[in-house]
Amino acid sequence: MRETPGSKTLGFNEPLIFDRSTAGRLGTTLPDLDLPEADPASVLPHGLARAERIGLPEVSEPEVVRHFVRLSSWNYSVDHGFYPLGSCTMKYNPKLNEWAARLPGFAHLHPYTPDALAQGAIQLMVALEEMLAEISGMAAISLQPAAGAHGELTAMMMIRECLAKRGDPRKKVLIPDTAHGTNPATCTLNGYEVASVPSTDEGFLDPQAIAKMMDEDVAAVMLTNPNTLGLFERYVKDVADVVHAKGGFVFGDGANLNAIMGRARPGDFGIDAMQFNLHKTFSTPHGGGGPGSGPVGVCKDLAPYLPLPRPLRLGDGSFALSEDAPDSIGRVRSFAGNFGVMVRAYTYLREIGAPGVKRVSEMAVLNANYLLSLIKDTYRVPFGNGRCMHECVASDRDLQKETGVSTLDVAKGLIDRGFHPPTVYFPLVVRGALMMEPTETESRESVEEFAAALLDIAARAAEDPDAFHRAPERTRLGRLDETAAARKPVLKAE
Ligand SMILES: Cc1ncc(COP(=O)(O)O)c(C=O)c1O
Repeated sequence: MRETPGSKTLGFNEPLIFDRSTAGRLGTTLPDLDLPEADPASVLPHGLARAERIGLPEVSEPEVVRHFVRLSSWNYSVDHGFYPLGSCTMKYNPKLNEWAARLPGFAHLHPYTPDALAQGAIQLMVALEEMLAEISGMAAISLQPAAGAHGELTAMMMIRECLAKRGDPRKKVLIPDTAHGTNPATCTLNGYEVASVPSTDEGFLDPQAIAKMMDEDVAAVMLTNPNTLGLFERYVKDVADVVHAKGGFVFGDGANLNAIMGRARPGDFGIDAMQFNLHKTFSTPHGGGGPGSGPVGVCKDLAPYLPLPRPLRLGDGSFALSEDAPDSIGRVRSFAGNFGVMVRAYTYLREIGAPGVKRVSEMAVLNANYLLSLIKDTYRVPFGNGRCMHECVASDRDLQKETGVSTLDVAKGLIDRGFHPPTVYFPLVVRGALMMEPTETESRESVEEFAAALLDIAARAAEDPDAFHRAPERTRLGRLDETAAARKPVLKAE
């Protein structure tokens, strides 16, 4: 049955745009053809012309606009409300960044524009690299990777290349058991074996555990500071000393930089290579796969291996994209990377300045600690003694034992209360984990409202656990079969 779209209510089902197609209906007015119509097969090289029509939907402009606006209203975003997705840093993205990224000189710049005509854009890249080097204490930066995971991959490729050049190829990488899944994935893609390092009972990386596992076959340790339990790795310098003494490198996952920037620099606590998640820390709307930018920062020894091209400031004050680096690992992304995200990050940093960078991390940590203080008597907090950095991890194991309401039920109950759920079941070392990151952009009131929702769920779970198994009930679609959605995705209508 063809469904009618939601002119009555925004919650109405929305058909595919193809189902709204009516032959001959136009969304635009094109000038009359003033040339004879050509048969594509006669003008395109053999094999490139389609035998059949492409089958685009034929719809009017208002139909297109309404279709996509209605679809967008089904989505929850950081512009709708509180989005405490731990690890993902869903903070509010200032609209000024959007203005800057849309300036025609940036937005319409063709990637093949010669350097002489793209001076402003290259200058922006050079300046952003300098800012990131200053914030991180790293010797050199490349903006090219397209996401945090891609930055990790790039950094580990550089470490592998550097060790190979030294005639010291190694096979293993050590990764703490609290690590984000992209860390081991990066190693596997790079041909490394992964050995998992157990954290201490307090949730820290233990230099003694590293010392036991560290040998001349270990290329690197990949650590995250603050780690995914929201704790500052207090032995990070000792860990780095152990690794360096055996000729290995220390990779620092920089996804949590918003907790420490302006206060502590990875380059100063022994990190040799790191990635930045520009789209998180330096505010670009993200999620759903992009767009992102995951620059890498490296120490002096790794700098020759940075990807190409390198944006450079030349002696005469002009700027150029250089391909001249014989030891480079080459390109990891087309052109210079996701330039729009760089413009947003640059704008954000220019807007807040050095004092703002410090204030960001202070507020991120304050908000997370405030949230933790509001819920810690109700939800068990397994690590950190009631303190955290920019995110906090609580466990609802007790609630589950007492009421049968699961972590997933709590997450769905939060949707019914108007909040995006936090990250759940991660990190893996915490059973029933709720990983919450309010970020620095939230007000005291929104943190309090979210905490109140969590406390309300805990209070009502015993009264009516079934209501939570059914949640969410106030959304357009109710509880989905998430396993089936992941295993048997239906990506297009029959
Ligand atoms: C700790 C950590 N490392 C790496 C990543 C990967 O970053 P991206 O999603 O930009 O690929 C994430 C993303 O959530 C993360 O939280």
